[in-house]
Amino acid sequence: MYLDKIEKFVKEKLSNEKSGHDYKHIQRVVNNAHRIMEGMQLRDSEKYIILASCLVHDIIDYKVSNNIEADKQELISILSEAGASDRDIDQILYIIENISYSKNLEDEKRMEITGQIVQDADRLDAIGAIGIARTFYYGGSRGSDLYDENSKREIHAPSLESYKEDSSVIDHFYQKLLRLKDYMNTEKAREIAEERHAFMLSFLENFFEEI
Ligand code: NI
Repeated sequence: MYLDKIEKFVKEKLSNEKSGHDYKHIQRVVNNAHRIMEGMQLRDSEKYIILASCLVHDIIDYKVSNNIEADKQELISILSEAGASDRDIDQILYIIENISYSKNLEDEKRMEITGQIVQDADRLDAIGAIGIARTFYYGGSRGSDLYDENSKREIHAPSLESYKEDSSVIDHFYQKLLRLKDYMNTEKAREIAEERHAFMLSFLENFFEEI
């Protein structure tokens, strides 16, 4: 598989992305995956699946794509041109169609180690300092309120419906970001997540104090 071909496609495809799922997000997810993979025993074929999946993981997400079916067909032909076998393509599609937080709200998807690593790498970019920045940026792009004085500050699993409704940016921390550290699959990601989680808690503490 030629990862550079896939990378070039993704870079172009996301060049106008303004919801926090831009190419820099992709680069950070790839970096996170490298950190997680360090010291793990993985076959080269698995590493290729992981890195290719990281690169394309947001291309057919409802937050990014306006036409998921068309973008999926395009993605399949790009992957095939980059030398991915049908089996590789099936694996990559399974991963990227099942890692998202909203997909796992309905029922938890079973993942092989390849998918687990991609999921952790993406989730790490949703927490910590970057996670805070991206959450406000995304909320702004959707026209969400900054915060709602009446909402309870309790960590909870929202229903899929209420999750897709527009809630305030601060509510999003309690519906998703503060839950993520307990859902990391790998040891390394759990370790990184602990630190980033602590930083979000201290951010929120200051935030409410300043209100
Ligand atoms: Ni992502």
